[in-house]
Amino acid sequence: LFKEISYHEEVESTQNIAQKLINQGAGSGTVVIANEQTSGRGRLGRDWFSPKDKGIWMSLILKPEITLREAPQLTLLAAVAVTRAISSVCSISSEIKWPNDILVDGKKVCGILTEMQADPDRIKSVIIGIGINVNQTDFPSSIANIATSLAKARGEQVERSELIIQILNEFQWLYEAYLAKGFSFIKPLWEVNAISIGKKIVATTAQGRLTGIAEGINDEGVLILRDDNGKVHHIYSGDITIPKD
Ligand code: BTN
Repeated sequence: LFKEISYHEEVESTQNIAQKLINQGAGSGTVVIANEQTSGRGRLGRDWFSPKDKGIWMSLILKPEITLREAPQLTLLAAVAVTRAISSVCSISSEIKWPNDILVDGKKVCGILTEMQADPDRIKSVIIGIGINVNQTDFPSSIANIATSLAKARGEQVERSELIIQILNEFQWLYEAYLAKGFSFIKPLWEVNAISIGKKIVATTAQGRLTGIAEGINDEGVLILRDDNGKVHHIYSGDITIPKD
């Protein structure tokens, strides 16, 4: 699947390069990797700190035959690929916080940003941006409390190329299984690594704030929250926090 790799020393954002490559006709499976991003983007309009030499800043171009509704499932799949690769390459166990933050020791090591081009009902292309804090030893004070790196968790530097190869391997077999069998194949793999399930969470969504128990994700990948009155909500996008009690 991942035969075409486009490597860059410094870019604004690998997402932008991926978009440009799509406009030039790049096929499914093209991978954009950069050693540094000068304006890395996070979800919900945030910046993503992407210093030189330290992390994995990568965007995957895919053109799956799926609907717009199904597209978030690919982000969940990507999170599964990354946690599995971190575990096999670094021997570190990491946890997924819905939808796709990956945490080690309760702090974020990886974020995933999915952007797509679509007709009203059909996906034309998807760009899955994966940012992993690999070898940073310090973080800017604004994120020092919430971010960590694999090297900090492991106490030793991690070979980025080895981790990239493993992520792409994991992604490939999961993606093939997903296309053949659907999201129900990915769901249990996501759930084994998820921390939010069964816990009290606060969800911030476009519709407002909701508090309740995260019951799990459904077969579409949508988060199910049962609020304090027992009412069930489907959360398609947004952010959650897990309050400490
Ligand atoms: C998040 O958790 O908010 C998502 C962060 C996604 C960061 C990656 S790094 C590679 C790709 N290029 C970007 O500009 N963002 C994504």
